[in-house]
Amino acid sequence: MDKMNFHIMTLFPDMVMNTLDTSILARAMNNGLIACEAVNIRDYTLRKNNRVDDYTYGGGAGMLMQAQPVYDCWKSIQDRLPKKSRVVFLTPQGRVFNQKIAEDLSKEDDLILLCGHYEGIDERVLDEIVTDNISIGDYVLTGGELPAIILVDAISRFVPGVLGNESSASTDSFQDGLLEYPQYSRPEVWHDKRVPEILMSGDHAKVDAWRLEQSIERTRERRPDLYKSFLAK
Ligand code: ADE
Repeated sequence: MDKMNFHIMTLFPDMVMNTLDTSILARAMNNGLIACEAVNIRDYTLRKNNRVDDYTYGGGAGMLMQAQPVYDCWKSIQDRLPKKSRVVFLTPQGRVFNQKIAEDLSKEDDLILLCGHYEGIDERVLDEIVTDNISIGDYVLTGGELPAIILVDAISRFVPGVLGNESSASTDSFQDGLLEYPQYSRPEVWHDKRVPEILMSGDHAKVDAWRLEQSIERTRERRPDLYKSFLAK
C-alpha cells in the first residue's frame, strides 16, 4: 500500500502539525498510511532580520510574501521527491474545493501545499511552482493554514486504511452527489421521539430504499443546488 505524503509550506508549522496530529489523522500517521511535514518558509529567508515579506509595488495596503524564500522552500522539498509533485496554493482565487477534487488529489504519492499569509505572495514564484489554485469557499481567511488542514483531512479519508471501515469514504455525504440520510442509535425512544420503525424491521432492502429516499428529500430541502445536479445526472 502506498503511503501518501503531504508537504505543507507555511510560516506557522506548529499550527498545522498540532492540528493534524489528532484523532484519525494521528492514527493514520502512526500507522504509516500518511505522512505530514510542515516546512517553515522562514527558514529559507536570506535576510538578516529573518523577514519574508515586503511592500507591494504599485502601492496598496499590506505586505506581500517575497518570491525567494517561497521558491527555495519549495525547491528543498521538491529536490527530495522522486518526481515532480503537484503544488496546491490555497487561495480564495482558486477552484472551490469539493469531494471530487479531494478524491482526485488522493491519488498522488506526494502533495505540496503552499499557505500564503499577509496580502499574498509575489506572483512570479506562483507562476513557476503552483500547479493547482484551490479555495475552500467564498470567504477570506487570514492565511492558508486552515484551508491546507482541511484539504489534508478530506484527502486522507480516501487513502486506503485511513478510515478503517473501507466503505465509509464512499457512502458519506456528497459521494453520490447527495447529502447523507439521518441516523439513529440507542435508545429506541428519546425525548418522546421514536426511531423510525423501518430501521428496526431487519429488511435491508427496505432500509436501503428508505435511506435513499431520505437522502434525496434532505438534499432537495437543504441543498437545491446539489439536487438540481442530481436530477440532471
Ligand atoms: N486563504 C485565505 N482565504 C482562503 C480561502 N477561502 N480558501 C483558501 N485559501 C484561503
